[in-house]
Amino acid sequence: MGKKAREIVGVDIKDLINDLNKAYCDEWLAYYAWWYMARMVDGKGYEDMSEFLDKISKDELEHATELAERIVELGGLPVNSLSIIEKSANAPYPGVMKNLHDYDEIIKIVTTAEAGAIEVYNKIANKTFGKDHDTYQLATHIMGEEIGHEEMFENLKEAK
Ligand SMILES: [Fe+2]
Ligand SMILES: [Fe+2]
Repeated sequence: MGKKAREIVGVDIKDLINDLNKAYCDEWLAYYAWWYMARMVDGKGYEDMSEFLDKISKDELEHATELAERIVELGGLPVNSLSIIEKSANAPYPGVMKNLHDYDEIIKIVTTAEAGAIEVYNKIANKTFGKDHDTYQLATHIMGEEIGHEEMFENLKEAK
């Protein structure tokens, strides 16, 4: 990002990079938990659950990638260690189901984390609205997908 581009960002860039880095950490934790559960889930109809989890895990990895790109554009550096990722995230590691076929627990884990993610991106969007167009666009784009994730898993609860 050049001088002028940085000048037009109307928020404290250091503070914004910190917010984006925390969200970046959340994405890695969610990616890992969803990826793991997609491979470990079993029981009746597990293929569908596995497919849903795999789909959202890929989205979270994409979010991490998009956030890393924006952090670098702003002149920052994405968190570079897994132990720091866990410590710096907004929310603790979502964890995975204790029983591999406990769909209720999976749904609870996912919907709780997705609700947290929606809040995080809503905050970033509010902070950057009218001040940093690119980050605002990124935050609302990611938030839209987190809303989709929450809805997908809430619908699973109703479908049971
Ligand atoms: Fe995400
Ligand atoms: Fe998500």
